[in-house]
Amino acid sequence: MNWHKVADSLGEVEFGANNIAVVDLDGKNICLGKFKDALFAFAYKCPHAGGMLAEGFIDALGNIVCPLHRYKYNMENGRNTSGEGYYLKHWPVQIKEDGIFVGVEETGGLFGWLK
Ligand code: FES
Repeated sequence: MNWHKVADSLGEVEFGANNIAVVDLDGKNICLGKFKDALFAFAYKCPHAGGMLAEGFIDALGNIVCPLHRYKYNMENGRNTSGEGYYLKHWPVQIKEDGIFVGVEETGGLFGWLK
């Protein structure tokens, strides 16, 4: 697991009113979602048909809800909790004194992990 810095501090991340922010992970956009003092990292686009997840919302159970067709995904494990059988790419997050880090498994080449 390689940890990549996506922000210098939590205060630097610009969350929308929906508690979702877009950050740069090595040149690619990903989303950060805040829920009950925890932070989650997940894909920029919905695995169903590419909906912009940063324009969705986080429901009362901590699912990210896609703005396009309202499919829901657990931000922690990527499970498609509304039951359509998709899987949301997601990554572990660490909040440290020197920044916010997202953990990436380096498999399948340099950018094989980010489609
Ligand atoms: S594109 Fe996200 S639910 Fe269809």
